[in-house]
Amino acid sequence: MTNGLQQYVLERRARVNRALDEILPPADTRPATLHSAMRYSVFAGGKRIRPILMLAAAEAREWGNGCDQLGAAIECIHTYSLIHDDLPALDDDDFRRGKPTCHKQYSESVAILAGDALLTLGLLTLVTHGEKTGRRDLHAKYRADTMAVVARAVGTVDGMIGGQMADLEAEGCVPTPDLVQYIHQSKTAALIRASVVVGSLCGECVEEEPALHNALCLYGDRIGLAFQIVDDILDVVSSTEQLGKTAGKDARQAKATYPAMYGIEGSRLKAQRCLEESLDALGVFSDRAWALRGLARWIVSRAN
Ligand code: IPE
Ligand code: IPE
Ligand code: MG
Ligand code: MG
Ligand code: MG
Repeated sequence: MTNGLQQYVLERRARVNRALDEILPPADTRPATLHSAMRYSVFAGGKRIRPILMLAAAEAREWGNGCDQLGAAIECIHTYSLIHDDLPALDDDDFRRGKPTCHKQYSESVAILAGDALLTLGLLTLVTHGEKTGRRDLHAKYRADTMAVVARAVGTVDGMIGGQMADLEAEGCVPTPDLVQYIHQSKTAALIRASVVVGSLCGECVEEEPALHNALCLYGDRIGLAFQIVDDILDVVSSTEQLGKTAGKDARQAKATYPAMYGIEGSRLKAQRCLEESLDALGVFSDRAWALRGLARWIVSRAN
């Protein structure tokens, strides 16, 4: 990652963390166990890649202010997906973001409720963000639109929950190209694409430019798929220490992954192709999309 992008990421990450602190109830608010579990998982670490993509997309559409809580909303929803993904009934993982998973630190029942609560808080915040701070820049229509975009991306038809279902049902099966593509597109790419689309919608009230919006939709879709392909590769080639989550689990659970389908080199080529497509999509943008370009390269070259 270049120094410029590193600084960019650190600054946006700090802003998103502040916004998360604003929207999450204090840990001592009743029921304190639940609120402390939500904060535990949200602040365990995490790259904040989805909210940073959202902010970078908003900036490419010349609208970078007042969106931090929107990014925080998306991060809450992403963290919910991780807490539930780690549950014994799903992937059964003990480590996440370098710490014990939510159900290990608290209990299974608390982890289920903390996930439910983060999903609900995230969706609520997409509509109400900025209320407490007086920053209500986004027009009401776009508040409803952003919630629809995200709720659909989390849903069952081509969305995250549907993808998670297919991922579980595919365990132990011989993968096919169509199946792994469907799983990855739904369980991961959909929410990443939605993050970029939400950023683009922030700019929509500044000027109506469908070509720019469509370009960002395509960018989000391609880099979202690349993200999960790289996650699969890292599960094979990286270590638990480096990842902050248990490495080598996909093969043990016979998951339908890109490496299982195409091998490591074949998966790298697929991820590279997605990166190129995502950069091609940004061709309609000038230098304003520099961060989106850098983030795409980082997603494919990252080590964790
Ligand atoms: C992990 O996402 C789950 C996937 C969708 C592959 P991240 O790699 O973004 O996890 P954090 O947020 O940085 O912990
Ligand atoms: C999960 O994919 C994606 C979601 C959480 C929706 P993985 O099961 O591969 O994610 P990790 O590797 O546990 O982070
Ligand atoms: Mg999983
Ligand atoms: Mg998992
Ligand atoms: Mg994984």
